[in-house]
Amino acid sequence: MRKLNSAGTATFFAAAMVVAGFLFAGQLTAQNARIKIDIDRQIGEVNKNVYGNFVEHLGRCVYGGIYDEGSPLADEDGIRLDVLEAAKGLNVSLTRYPGGNFVSNYHWKDGVGPKDERPTRMELAWARLESNRFGTNEFIDFARRMGTEPYFAVNLGTGTIEEAQQWVEYCNVKEGPYYAELRKQHGYAEPHNITYWSLGNEMDGFWQMGHLNAEDYSKKAREAAKLMKLTSPEIKLVAAGSSNYRPNADPNEWNATILHELRDVVDYIALHIYVGNVADNYYNYLSTPLVLEERTQIVKGMILKEMAYAQRQSDDPIYIAWDEYNVWYRARVGEDMTGERALEEHYNLEDALVIAGFLNAFIRNADVVKMANMAQLVNVIAPIFTSETDMFKQTIYYPLALFANNAFGTALDVAVDCETYDTEEFFIGLAESKTTQEDVPFLDVSATYDDGQVVLCVVNRNKDKAITTDIIAQEGLFDGEYEVYEVNGPDSKAQNDFGKTLVETKSKPALRVKKADKMTYEFPPHSFTMIKGALKN
Ligand code: AHR
Repeated sequence: MRKLNSAGTATFFAAAMVVAGFLFAGQLTAQNARIKIDIDRQIGEVNKNVYGNFVEHLGRCVYGGIYDEGSPLADEDGIRLDVLEAAKGLNVSLTRYPGGNFVSNYHWKDGVGPKDERPTRMELAWARLESNRFGTNEFIDFARRMGTEPYFAVNLGTGTIEEAQQWVEYCNVKEGPYYAELRKQHGYAEPHNITYWSLGNEMDGFWQMGHLNAEDYSKKAREAAKLMKLTSPEIKLVAAGSSNYRPNADPNEWNATILHELRDVVDYIALHIYVGNVADNYYNYLSTPLVLEERTQIVKGMILKEMAYAQRQSDDPIYIAWDEYNVWYRARVGEDMTGERALEEHYNLEDALVIAGFLNAFIRNADVVKMANMAQLVNVIAPIFTSETDMFKQTIYYPLALFANNAFGTALDVAVDCETYDTEEFFIGLAESKTTQEDVPFLDVSATYDDGQVVLCVVNRNKDKAITTDIIAQEGLFDGEYEVYEVNGPDSKAQNDFGKTLVETKSKPALRVKKADKMTYEFPPHSFTMIKGALKN
């Protein structure tokens, strides 16, 4: 790695040579950045569930988002067709529902049966009234139409373990017991067969209704898991890992305890992260995906230890589910936190680059990160934004769509040689602890390999300079045409809006390579680029 200072000033000798005119354009190869791709250096299979999303009863995510009864943009079931279409473009593998903090005061029975008979409740997490006109079966119908797998969270806050068991029975048992028959009465003869269930949400958070300490959570989660698995043995269970990274919290203590207590019960531990450019420092902010990567490595170590003690083999793993991640800091105070218009974050290009960084990090940790859910799908810290009459795709929509439609197969351990920078000490988000990052590479890279095709994903974090890069195949040859897609905009603060798209994916001229082990590409400033094509042995 070659170090620059945080303003991006070159300090290495070769750059000085260029400035002094010692090197000519044709000779620049010696100082190009390098990405080396070796198809034998494999990290693990990219699980399609890392391209998941999240629908919570919060603000306008459900009502006014995916579901808008009476809207001219909705069909007779109340589904907003413009939203459904945009959501399909994200190729969402699985969608978490119904919360979030909401779930800790949600009783699923309120949301089934004839709509006009459902109770309206006070919703305490986000201070609204919950009509319950959208519930389990409406979500399943929406999910099937969107082509996504449902992932349910049970209420371990104000809810009981019995209530959790009954929900599994309602959803997964074909016939016989009361709740399976109730589902049939509600018009669903076949079970919903929901595989993924999480055992509560953010139970370490003091803000969570029914918040518990790690020991008490483990006991409740273990007993809920027992009843749920006895009801539907094939389900996969997700433990609520720590989401509290405030300066005085101890997230590692929570994670260590619950993994120890639940190591023979759960299949995943859920982690959450929200970052933001709180101090308006672009370079600090662009390094935040490295924090997710550090936390992944810490929890991976805990998982390995507990799996060894529990004598769980690699065919019966515990994985990490980053089942909430996003940028969230603007709409995180005061009035923006509650009511009908809560958490309506408006994203810009730098946010999209951070999202691309998170997705790169999921791929670089594909051996242990097997699920991730952008929080959330519509309006609430979301890639899709609606009004009563219109819809637009936020900047963060575009990198997610590119990854979710292209980056599959085996994650490769690429070697990257480029300039780096150090950050100052900074808060990574509004409710997050401080960090300092050293040697942040200007090029943030991941690669996947599938059936002779390589997909290279590159964020150029440099705000001002393009980075000319040699992409080198260490095994096999590049040969043919390479599709190139770029997410970029006029500047790092560029935003989209209704009727205005400044940041989107653009197809760039294809690269043409004839049986070569190297191709060269210039990654533009503040950009995300995906390059896709053959790598033949
Ligand atoms: O996604 C918004 C909120 O963030 C979720 O409800 C909660 O789980 C997290 O704190």
